[in-house]
Amino acid sequence: MSKKISIPGIIDPHVHFRTPGAEYKEDYRSGSAAALAGGVTYVLDMPNTNPATTTEADLDWKIRETEKIAGNYSSSERSESRSAIFVGISRQARAVNSLKFGFNFGATNNNLEEIKKVEDKIASIKVYFGSSTGNLLVNDLKIIEKMMQETTKVITVHAEDEELIQKNTKKYEGQADPKIHSLIRNPETAASAVEKLLNLVRKTNHPVYFCHISTKDEVELIKKAKAEGLPVYAEVTPHHLFLDESAYDKWGNFVKVNPPIRSKDHVKALWDAIDAGIIDCLGSDHAPHLPEEKKQGYWQAPSGIPGVETLLPLILNAVNEGKLTMEKLIELTSTNASRIFGLDNAGAETIVDMNEIWEVNAKDLHSKCGWSPYEGMGLKGRVISI
Ligand code: NCD
Ligand code: ZN
Ligand code: ZN
Ligand code: ZN
Repeated sequence: MSKKISIPGIIDPHVHFRTPGAEYKEDYRSGSAAALAGGVTYVLDMPNTNPATTTEADLDWKIRETEKIAGNYSSSERSESRSAIFVGISRQARAVNSLKFGFNFGATNNNLEEIKKVEDKIASIKVYFGSSTGNLLVNDLKIIEKMMQETTKVITVHAEDEELIQKNTKKYEGQADPKIHSLIRNPETAASAVEKLLNLVRKTNHPVYFCHISTKDEVELIKKAKAEGLPVYAEVTPHHLFLDESAYDKWGNFVKVNPPIRSKDHVKALWDAIDAGIIDCLGSDHAPHLPEEKKQGYWQAPSGIPGVETLLPLILNAVNEGKLTMEKLIELTSTNASRIFGLDNAGAETIVDMNEIWEVNAKDLHSKCGWSPYEGMGLKGRVISI
């Protein structure tokens, strides 16, 4: 018997839709289709495109392009256009007509003036404190401190310690087992960065959102900071909740991601942190790369895992397994993000069937990348419509 329920439209605060510059991996149309098919009604796109989104002109271009295809309707316009558009039109057409976009703006070592110009058009200022896909990097604490003093928007941060990454990289030169990724970017690398940034929050009281936390160590640091009353928030990704280091055996560089997948005890610590109220949001960190790219050797293969379309199904299955409650799911996937980033998600809803049993097959997913690390996984709970 089906058990259909309506929940608030899912907000995914962390997607990489690869436009402009790498539309062969994903574009706004395919990314939107994947999001909506996964029950996501609002995405915050990341700035590590080519060019990176670091000037007002770059941002305005993205706003215009996404408005052209996605339409940022008000909620009353949305319900009208939904009923008009939905009838008899393909899932993809429907998807791109109902998704809302927001933007995380890229910080560089010298674009504070640009940041100030765009503060009221963005969801967050994104700081890559450690390097990842693309060439954004700001690892000078003085620059970040000044940014915190002179801006108000929440800073979202990729927190890995660049110096430690560089040091560890030297140690593993010449090796090629994908597993070294979890050693080069070890838990200390993440915790060290989080600690440095928390100390800046202690000085400035500026709000910081830690993207994709993946370790027990970070959980402990953020737990303490929250207890001190600091304005700090934490995100976890599905791949850090549903995959662990054993996935390298099957997937190799396909599961190479920053920060890396971790051992089972870190995974457990993340679930405990959800229970304890330390995690604020689920973000997919949807980071599509093509199989040809992932099939290269360790040093060439890019980092990133797709996930916007499987985010909600995986967590619905977890609700069915008793790992979290539906109330907690709603906090993690919409109400907290809406509050933290100031997003208007009113009117957006996602209909799910908690009883439908199905299997993840990448061929049915909408991302251009065409693969999923959850391939073949049986899930109970499915998105019906938005
Ligand atoms: C992301 C990408 O490919 O854009 N990759 C990743 O491994 N997570 C960048 C990022 O979020 O760090
Ligand atoms: Zn500030
Ligand atoms: Zn990141
Ligand atoms: Zn990311």
